[in-house]
Amino acid sequence: MRIDEHKFFARKLDYDYRMCVKGEGVWVFDADGNKYLDACSGANVSSIGHGVKEIGAAMQAQADTIAYVPPQHFLNQPTIDLCRRLLEHAPDHFTRVMLCSGGSEANENALKIARQYHVYKGNSGKYLNIARWQGFHGNTIVADAVGGTTSRRKISAPMLPEVPHIKPSNCFHCPYHQEYPNCGMLCAKALEDEILQLGPENVSAFICEPVVGSANAACTPVKEYFPMIREICDKHDVLWIDDEIMAGAGRTGKFLAIENWDALPDIAVMAKGLSCGYAPLAAILLSDKVWKAFRDGDYPYIGGHTYNAHPVTATVGLAVLDYVEKNHVYENVEYKGKLLREGLESLQKKHPIIGDVRGLGLFQGIEFVRDGKEPFAPELNVTPRILDRALEKGLIVYASRGCLDGRRGDGLLVCPPLIINEEEIKYIIDVLDETITEIVAELKAEGNYDY
Ligand SMILES: Cc1ncc(COP(=O)(O)O)c(C=O)c1O
Repeated sequence: MRIDEHKFFARKLDYDYRMCVKGEGVWVFDADGNKYLDACSGANVSSIGHGVKEIGAAMQAQADTIAYVPPQHFLNQPTIDLCRRLLEHAPDHFTRVMLCSGGSEANENALKIARQYHVYKGNSGKYLNIARWQGFHGNTIVADAVGGTTSRRKISAPMLPEVPHIKPSNCFHCPYHQEYPNCGMLCAKALEDEILQLGPENVSAFICEPVVGSANAACTPVKEYFPMIREICDKHDVLWIDDEIMAGAGRTGKFLAIENWDALPDIAVMAKGLSCGYAPLAAILLSDKVWKAFRDGDYPYIGGHTYNAHPVTATVGLAVLDYVEKNHVYENVEYKGKLLREGLESLQKKHPIIGDVRGLGLFQGIEFVRDGKEPFAPELNVTPRILDRALEKGLIVYASRGCLDGRRGDGLLVCPPLIINEEEIKYIIDVLDETITEIVAELKAEGNYDY
């Protein structure tokens, strides 16, 4: 359906959107009867797959009992139960949870919580947030400000508060032109340099994704990175906010992706896979250290939203956890992730256009290169061409553009529902193979690719 055929303020104006009418497992169906394997879970959302009947039934039952409870007057049981259940899955280090409706809102609140923590601890000079280039944290104003995708923040830039960005951890395109492990971990040390430059007395928080999603095709730091980040943040009393909105909720095989490293953040932010898209839900997990600053001083959190403790949404979170536990969903991620990774690496051997395969568990990414590590010119639209061709063939993958420097760098995310089976993983690899073969042939015919 094209933009002039309806009234919805759709994201792309010059695009003939298909109408999606049904979902079942890893598949979604359009109004013309075509089916597509959702190999990006929407955007790391639909981890338990589409059309799980018990989630809808739980929502219905809660909505029939009470759909909305005003959080300023009452608590409600689903909210209490969900916070407890999330903490049972998370490391003991976390002791409190705030719920929100989406990722951007949750990140905004995490940054406000960090600021209030410092004020309550008597350090009211601390207000600056440091972030990384080639990261994404959402589309509201402060979330956009901490985001590090040049093209996304370009128009909003004059409205955004001041946020210093450090270079990302990216071994494929090391911003310091080093080779791991002889690199001196300059990417982690950059955080300390920036804190010292700004003055630790001014810095409130550092925010980053453990495995970068849309901004950098599942780029994953080496094992030393986050322990160093932890040490630097502790040294300068800076809170580390871990944006797990894409990477968390079992996507990498652990409840929190950061559990793949030997370090834990002060605040972890989760969303997408918590409700798997059945309702808008996000969670901010507070470490005991952060929670105590509020608790010990009896300080209130200045913030909150209409839907902070929504019983129907919380019921969805609980029903998803029930499903995950009953079907051992997270436990199977390591094995299926390995199969997916092997498939993508086999494509890399066949197609030199795939420069890098990376990621953890069922959060995998590939980066396309013209030659070695050289990117394609952005005007060639390599990523959208691959995405559109894959879609025509019945496969949905997620774009990651600008992954080299915000403008250049073509990549995509392959992050199917965690309930995917071996045959469906093979389907992803086969369709990607066909798609890449065709696009490579076209690029060659145009004289835009020689390999
Ligand atoms: C890492 C990350 N943080 C934050 C967000 C923003 O979440 P939302 O779109 O729910 O506001 C996203 C969304 O894709 C994300 O991937």
